[in-house]
Amino acid sequence: MIANKNLLLMPGDGIGPEVMAQARRVLNWLQESGRASFTIDEELVGGAAIDVHGVPLTDAALAKAKSADALLFGSVGGPKWDKVPFEIRPEAGLLKLRAELQVFANLRPAKVFHALADASSLKPELVSGLDLMIVRECIGGIYFGQPRGIETLPNGEQRGINTEVYTTHEIQRVGRVAFELARKRQGRVCSVEKANVMEAGLLWRQVMTKLHAEEFPDVALSHMYADNCAMQLAKNPKQFDVIVTSNLFGDILSDLAAMLTGSLGLLPSATLGAKDENGRVPSLYEPIHGSAPDIAGTGKANPLAQVLSLAMMLRYSFDMSEEANAIEAAVERVLAKAGRTPDIAVPGRAVISTAEMGDALLAELPR
Ligand code: IPM
Ligand code: MG
Repeated sequence: MIANKNLLLMPGDGIGPEVMAQARRVLNWLQESGRASFTIDEELVGGAAIDVHGVPLTDAALAKAKSADALLFGSVGGPKWDKVPFEIRPEAGLLKLRAELQVFANLRPAKVFHALADASSLKPELVSGLDLMIVRECIGGIYFGQPRGIETLPNGEQRGINTEVYTTHEIQRVGRVAFELARKRQGRVCSVEKANVMEAGLLWRQVMTKLHAEEFPDVALSHMYADNCAMQLAKNPKQFDVIVTSNLFGDILSDLAAMLTGSLGLLPSATLGAKDENGRVPSLYEPIHGSAPDIAGTGKANPLAQVLSLAMMLRYSFDMSEEANAIEAAVERVLAKAGRTPDIAVPGRAVISTAEMGDALLAELPR
């Protein structure tokens, strides 16, 4: 068993608390079966924090996130906070966490579960067996670049500004993560940018090419423009192994890749930083789905992406592959036989609630 670890849970808004409640049951299973020992703390984030503290992330919550061994995040945002000032909108809490924790590499796997190949909007033969990984740069690019803002011009017109900016080392560090992952997978990296339009994309391509030649000649590297990548993902997604790309393109392409798998409700993500002097890797785990305010509180949310995010945490932060595999295998079995939450419902299968999905999963976990 691993030494006791400090976990911080941030359920957030919308369906976040409901799906996190099911992940907590899996944490309890890990503890009660003697597989792990956790000290678990919980903090508000996003709109939930705005309601109580007036800001989407308090300094105290940030300090806890920084000292935790890993952070399991739910989701933030919703129409309730549409009118709060832009600087303190719910999403700003998540962006601040990513930036402050310096978690620059966002790993977004898009894997088609065998039982769900027919839930994709693409033909089953195009997606069955699909297993690709998007590595999204997460604390740079246009999300954080300066200058930014809305200014008023002398003629009274307004102008909105954001800046795409990448430095050599920002590209190298996320590139290394992608190449290293590819070595453990099918050995192929596709680097995605718009080098035909943007200088930041041109530099991205140059840096990736050099990094490949100098450090990863054993991995196959290809380059693709982001618009073409979107098309290729819809046309023949199985051509990809690892895709590495900027913050904004990664945001968009990962939603597209996620939908190929049949449900956003199934996809986890891990966001990792660099190892510190104590060997600790700052890390944040979150489902790719958002807060889904339209179904919040109705028991319709699929908790599996949150549970699979927990499995990623076990694998990447705590080297607990055996337990991560056990959870993932239990998810496979549940999808193959249990009822389904509405997002993946099929005729002939019972439609079940968030908590019932939790029950089904717990029943599949080894004693
Ligand atoms: C995501 C989300 C976030 C992003 C939002 C909530 C700020 O869309 O994690 O993909 O754009 O990064
Ligand atoms: Mg997104």
